[in-house]
Amino acid sequence: METQILDPNAEGYARAASLLTKGQLVAFPTETVYGLGGDACNDIAVARIFEAKDRPRFNPLIVHVDSVEAAKSYVQWTDEADRIASAFWPGPLTLVLPLRPDNGLSPLVTANLPSLAIRVPQNPVAIALLQAFGGPIAAPSANPSGKISPTTADHVRAGLSGRIAGILDGGACNVGLESTILGLVDTPMLLRPGGLPAEAAEAALGAPLAQYHAGDPMTAPGQLASHYAPGAKMRLNARNPKTGELLLGFGAVEATLNLSPSGDLTEAAANLFGHLHAMDALGPDTIAVSEIPDRGLGRAINDRLRRAAAPRP
Ligand code: TXA
Ligand code: MG
Repeated sequence: METQILDPNAEGYARAASLLTKGQLVAFPTETVYGLGGDACNDIAVARIFEAKDRPRFNPLIVHVDSVEAAKSYVQWTDEADRIASAFWPGPLTLVLPLRPDNGLSPLVTANLPSLAIRVPQNPVAIALLQAFGGPIAAPSANPSGKISPTTADHVRAGLSGRIAGILDGGACNVGLESTILGLVDTPMLLRPGGLPAEAAEAALGAPLAQYHAGDPMTAPGQLASHYAPGAKMRLNARNPKTGELLLGFGAVEATLNLSPSGDLTEAAANLFGHLHAMDALGPDTIAVSEIPDRGLGRAINDRLRRAAAPRP
């Protein structure tokens, strides 16, 4: 299959929407990372998402919609969800809520779980695509399973070209880390740190979030230990690169690439996946990474770095 690159204009949106309606896959930018989109109500389209990424079927997908009103057709809405959504949607936050019985989604989307992960993205290209298509779009990050997430159309092309029908090129993603996932099925729980600092969600809820631990009954099944893996090995909290290593810096250090020379976590998040892609392309034995402060977006950056450094299956 030849992967078409589509521009974010009326013609591109119409083309992308028509591919989605036919059950084909189209990658598109969100404010977090590029998503690999398919019609969330079409079993064949959703099955194709798992195939194109080589993703385990037990790992459910996030559904993207263009408004809170639309979200209410798929999940059982609560006051808590309302408080969080009015504070942070559209934005880099996914809510996991009980699935509505009459949801109309393909059961493959949730891997048969009784809950659904759903979000309203903030990127104007994503919203224009959702409106042109007129329905819910299931979209995991648009990378082969286990690899570094894409923050440009070029990253998507490098990973999935020939396996998907189209890529809407909307430039670089400005947040650069996947959405924060908040479980609201019972006690509010942080299932994945991400582009919205957990502290902000806690402030809106007026209570601390329970922390997810591997093996908890309310799980984010995709939270595999090894993920975001470059070809190179990784060494974290490094001061100086050793022989055979290149340094991915943070703050005022001599480095091959620097996430943020001034030590700004927002800038570091936006650069993380792009710099990992670029350093990996240089073919080092090991990518050493400076220590990143573990607060705000730093928690999500450290989560991704730990998974990138974890032993590979
Ligand atoms: O920023 C993002 O969230 C991006 C963009 C494209 O929206 N998407 C993304 O999707 O990161 P993905 O598939 O790479 O990660 C989705 C995560 C997985 O860890 C999955 O296990 C979890 O969401 N998830 C999905 N449905 C769930 C559910 N019902 N309960 C708990 N976790 C769920
Ligand atoms: Mg992913």
